[in-house]
Amino acid sequence: MSLLVIGSDRLDDFYVCTKAMAPERDVRAYPDVGNVADIKYALAWKAPMGSLAQFENLELIVSVGAGVDHLFTDPELPDVPIVRYVDPDLTARMVQYVVLQTLFHVRRMTEIQAQQRTKKWAFLGEAMPDEVRVGIMGIGVLGQACAKALGGLGYRLNGWSRSPKNVDGVTCFAGDDGLEPFLNQTDVLVVLLPFTPATKGILNLDLFRKLSTSGRHERLPGPVLINAGRGGLQVEADILSALDEGSLYAASLDVFETEPLPSDSPLWEHEHIVITPHNAAESANESITRYFLRQIERLENGQPLENVVDPKIGY
Ligand code: NAP
Ligand code: GLV
Repeated sequence: MSLLVIGSDRLDDFYVCTKAMAPERDVRAYPDVGNVADIKYALAWKAPMGSLAQFENLELIVSVGAGVDHLFTDPELPDVPIVRYVDPDLTARMVQYVVLQTLFHVRRMTEIQAQQRTKKWAFLGEAMPDEVRVGIMGIGVLGQACAKALGGLGYRLNGWSRSPKNVDGVTCFAGDDGLEPFLNQTDVLVVLLPFTPATKGILNLDLFRKLSTSGRHERLPGPVLINAGRGGLQVEADILSALDEGSLYAASLDVFETEPLPSDSPLWEHEHIVITPHNAAESANESITRYFLRQIERLENGQPLENVVDPKIGY
């Protein structure tokens, strides 16, 4: 029974790390798989289409990421349990990213940096955190951790999820009926949704126009979008239209419809957009491989797997 690491530009690192942590195990790195019948457990990130189907004795797929949309695009995905990655390492990194971007825009840093480029010295008004409502779209593992950190800084918090939730310090909204009231009370929209058929293209002009207008004053000129979920959630042309017409003031985007973001994308040039290369929460190799090995041990010891994905809803 062998372990396989497959996909990812960090494949070699995962291989070395898994070997170092479990020297007694037989570990293989795709495409050097040897006898395919040996492979029982796979650690996968964007595995080549159809490649997982060849492992007839596969019993478990562990996703390198919290998001598992990279697996569900494979029409030949084997019908075995899929565990997504949930770890304090990843969570801490995402919290840092979301706090950083929220503070950046609430402190109007894109404008301040533009002033710096022209050597202009001028004060801009600034909203205090308790004047700003951060709405977290996707109040799951990462969303709740971000809420806790933002709440500690004094921001007012809203959350939106598929099923109703009760989260300390967060006004929670759920489902289709809850979306519009959630947006109407949101100044900074933090998106931590998974990419599924239900969330595809959800970040569009129609949605941006429903964001709060009451928070718009000279100290916070308009709503802010922070998307660290997935690029497929957003319609990039609509983000630009929303910025042009003022239904968005600024945006931080970590994920894109096409990655890497093509060099001719107008998003690169926009003064009020911060672009990061899908690195909001790039977990350490050791944390990922430790998690992979823990799931294998749990399976072998007859314990329940952690964070098992529901293929019917896609996350
Ligand atoms: P999670 O715990 O599963 O949380 C997902 C949240 O989204 C849940 O609150 C869920 O609602 C909600 N949701 C899902 N579908 C919905 C729908 N149709 N309508 C309303 N709410 C919906 O996932 P997580 O660990 O927080 O991760 C979230 C996502 O972050 C991942 O899927 C991944 O795409 C992204 N991510 C990005 C990076 C990066 O570096 N940029 C890193 C890690 C993760 P329920 O609570 O009702 O289930
Ligand atoms: C990264 O994008 C993840 O899903 O963990």
